Amino acid sequence: MNIVLIGFMGSGKSTVARYLSARLGLSSIEMDELVYQKTATHNMHDLFAKGGELLLRETEIAVAKEIASKERLVISTGGGVVLNKIILDYFKQGGAKVIFLKTSFEEIVRRLEGDYPRPLFNQLESAKKLYDLRQPLYLGYADLVIETDSKTAKEVADGL
Ligand code: S3P
Repeated sequence: MNIVLIGFMGSGKSTVARYLSARLGLSSIEMDELVYQKTATHNMHDLFAKGGELLLRETEIAVAKEIASKERLVISTGGGVVLNKIILDYFKQGGAKVIFLKTSFEEIVRRLEGDYPRPLFNQLESAKKLYDLRQPLYLGYADLVIETDSKTAKEVADGL
């Protein structure tokens, strides 16, 4: 069975995936990294320059299809996977447990300050709109919701 972490940028998916996979003896994988491999790009800005958000979303679908049938993975998704229902369908058909790392927008702004730049988080007002639009999607797909605001990534992983 796989564990799939969903949530907005800055919710801690990658770090929690690393702690959780180590604790449970599973492998952790990063969807963004697989997207870079598949598109021969190095980072999100590179990918957006090559094919825009459409290239990201199409490649996320292809990556999800490939990894959903594998076993014993903790999958750290990109924050936008919930925009394509088929991605979550692939994971759920594979029997995955989907965990939503729920983080307030204020906390996300704090965490992303000084983090690597993200093409969809370069303007606060539009990022907040994305955040609001996606909250019901994350909630709708989640088997489990974990509030992360006052916790470190290790505390979140240890609590799972
Ligand atoms: C995105 C989130 C990013 C990355 C891309 C788009 C989004 O992943 O896939 O920049 O649409 O929320 P993280 O959530 O890992 O930052």
